[in-house]
Amino acid sequence: MAAAGGLLLRGAAALTVAVLMLGIAGAARAQLRQNYYASSCPSAESTVRSVISQRLQQSFAVGPGTLRLFFHDCFVRGCDASVMLMAPNGDDESHSGADATLSPDAVDAINKAKAAVEALPGCAGKVSCADILAMAARDVVSLLGGPNYAVELGRLDGKSFNRAIVKHVLPGPGFNLDQLNSLFAQNGLTQTDMIALSGAHTIGVTHCDKFIRRIYTFKQHLPWNPPMNLEYLRSLRRVCPINYSPTAIAMLDASTPRVFDNAYFNNLRYNKGLLASDQVLFTDRRSRPTVNLFAANNTAFQEAFVAAMAKLGRIGLKTGSDGEVRRVCTAVN
Ligand code: HEM
Ligand SMILES: *[C@@H]1O[C@H](CO)[C@@H](O)[C@H](O)[C@H]1NC(C)=O
Repeated sequence: MAAAGGLLLRGAAALTVAVLMLGIAGAARAQLRQNYYASSCPSAESTVRSVISQRLQQSFAVGPGTLRLFFHDCFVRGCDASVMLMAPNGDDESHSGADATLSPDAVDAINKAKAAVEALPGCAGKVSCADILAMAARDVVSLLGGPNYAVELGRLDGKSFNRAIVKHVLPGPGFNLDQLNSLFAQNGLTQTDMIALSGAHTIGVTHCDKFIRRIYTFKQHLPWNPPMNLEYLRSLRRVCPINYSPTAIAMLDASTPRVFDNAYFNNLRYNKGLLASDQVLFTDRRSRPTVNLFAANNTAFQEAFVAAMAKLGRIGLKTGSDGEVRRVCTAVN
């Protein structure tokens, strides 16, 4: 009884959050536009790009880390840089289990980019951290070989965060297609958007715990465990032995882990998807045609990715007194 009640409550809370977020996004959508800072801080975008590019040269983790940071920002309370807030008591979003592996190098790069923009003449207090995240995500994609696109700007930073909500609003590595579709639909994204955005797994890494069950389960093709190429499985067992180290990592795209390309989708066709939530996109007949399209046509993938990133960037925008432009990304003003 108690458990069922808890689940019901949680469901109701999630629904309320979703409805609230869609409502806010609807009201504020018109305010985002390209070149938003053209007159108020004309060097904002070039400054962010140059800081991010420098940091990426120092640490490759900045690339995938920044892209994931933007996704986690937008899915948790909307694109409002709540993911960047640090609480002295450790109660911030980054201390949720689901966000524990966000890249410190990427967080640092965003904070450095913000500081550089604040230091530009006339720019102090003008450019939000939520926008810097959106610009930086665009920059890493193009710097790593993906499409370059104009990014919509004009977001405000949020004034609060909620660690407890994080694990309920982010997708899990064991999600099946219905679970993925339902969560992305709550954020106004279609199945095609979801598949295109999953293409972000063309760069970056995963820790062993996210797929360990997949590589030591002897019976394959279980509902929760889509098939895996045997050679690939063996190579993963070398990276993650049963007594794996918590810091051991595997590449999400084993073929071209440092290039933003459509190799991720080709991997799926050979059952070389690392997470169950990756491989299921090919295993499930309802999403397979889109995987095949993106695998065959990089332009089609890039166009769909850019369109989906724009939609991702419009989730749950803050308006009026719910938002502000922070002076530093780690704390509300
Ligand atoms: C579709 C549902 C998704 C699931 C289930 C998922 C899950 C995960 C998991 C479990 C990791 C590894 C975390 C770790 O072990 O450190 C990861 C990494 C990553 N995810 Fe996703 N993700 C999803 C969608 C996305 C989206 C939409 C984006 C961005 C547009 C994204 C970008 C990334 C990147 C770039 C990494 C590598 C991070 C790094 O190397 O620091 N993911 N994801
Ligand atoms: C690839 O996709 C693009 C964009 O959708 C399209 O214009 C082009 O015709 C496609 N190319 C092929 C070979 O199908």
